[in-house]
Amino acid sequence: MCKSLSVTALLFGALGMSGVVDSMPLGIGEKATAEIIAGWDIDVRPDGKGLPVGQGSVVEGESLYEAQCASCHGLFGEGEGRWPVLAGGEDTLDTDDPEKTVGSYWPYASTLWDYIHRAMPYPAPQSLSDDETYAISAYVLYLNDIVDEDFVANKETFAAVKMPNEPNFYVDNRPDVKNTRCMNDCLDPSTFDIVTTINGITPTGHFKEDSGVAASHHDQNTLTATPAVALANKGAHVVKMLNSGQSGAMVFEPAVLKISIGDTVTFVPADGGHNSASVPGLIPSGGVSWEGDLNEQVEVTFNKEGVYVYQCDPHVMMAMVGVISVGSPSNLSEIDAGSKELQSRFVMNQERLSGYLAELK
Ligand code: HEC
Repeated sequence: MCKSLSVTALLFGALGMSGVVDSMPLGIGEKATAEIIAGWDIDVRPDGKGLPVGQGSVVEGESLYEAQCASCHGLFGEGEGRWPVLAGGEDTLDTDDPEKTVGSYWPYASTLWDYIHRAMPYPAPQSLSDDETYAISAYVLYLNDIVDEDFVANKETFAAVKMPNEPNFYVDNRPDVKNTRCMNDCLDPSTFDIVTTINGITPTGHFKEDSGVAASHHDQNTLTATPAVALANKGAHVVKMLNSGQSGAMVFEPAVLKISIGDTVTFVPADGGHNSASVPGLIPSGGVSWEGDLNEQVEVTFNKEGVYVYQCDPHVMMAMVGVISVGSPSNLSEIDAGSKELQSRFVMNQERLSGYLAELK
């Protein structure tokens, strides 16, 4: 049964006990009859539960599809113009240009029946009969080489269709998803060991020192792990914006970064409320300047040698600043002199920036 029905049943149960269900004391709404409920209860589940009696073949589906769907989705599911592509895209999901289609991506055929029946054709949703939906769904599966041209879809045959990408959908079984929430007398986070992180995304500042730095990615976590691997490539660096890091409150981490000419730095808002922006006058002349938006990741490529100073705009008074040295720190003395004005604006951690710059000497 769908969610709306159980919610309705619950509500009515509660109201029934106080004896007000029939009188509708507020004078609004109407009683949900079995017929009204049936109109909402149209979901089809992954195991096929909810599929109605009826049938339709690939052959019948072809002409229906051509008349009602092809104008947008293309005769072969290739998509007209910028309308969605429904077929093809096999083996593209782990490439730089993944094409997610019914055949390459969707885990369950039942979703296709449900979706077409519920939402398509776009200009006239829910206008298809059950038999037409079976026939068109069968044809879309045929366009994806998932069924043969003599396939006839019905409750049983449709529920038995296996989609190629189903095994790549699995329940998140990393250990931390099974923890129960603690509301009082909780463990001290600084004693935690992080066993899996997404590099640059998982905030590690509150946890045990070094925890998670060399954290291993869970075996089945390869899809989410990919960007971390890419970022860890030579020439690509990550700086996290943190409320609390190993060197105190409101910090970039690492705050001092030495990189090579041509390297890229990605500033990641691991905690909220921060941005990264270069400080005018405190970068090499002709060097790149940047101004990231609040809570947004920003990626900067450094092609000009020298020292760059940057800040978090909302937290500059708390000395939330960082320095990047590209190649050799040839302009360090200018930056040192020029940074006095910025440092005079810090109301706390006054020594931070001079300390960072000293690390480059
Ligand atoms: C007027 C253009 C149009 C027509 C006609 C049309 N669709 Fe669509 N279809 C769309 C659009 C737009 C979307 C995306 C809707 C969204 O994401 O909310 C879509 C999405 C879909 C999807 C999901 C694609 C995906 O991978 O997310 C399927 C399946 C689909 N349509 C099947 C059909 C079928 C079958 C018909 C014919 C009965 C049909 N459509 C007719 C415009 C159309």
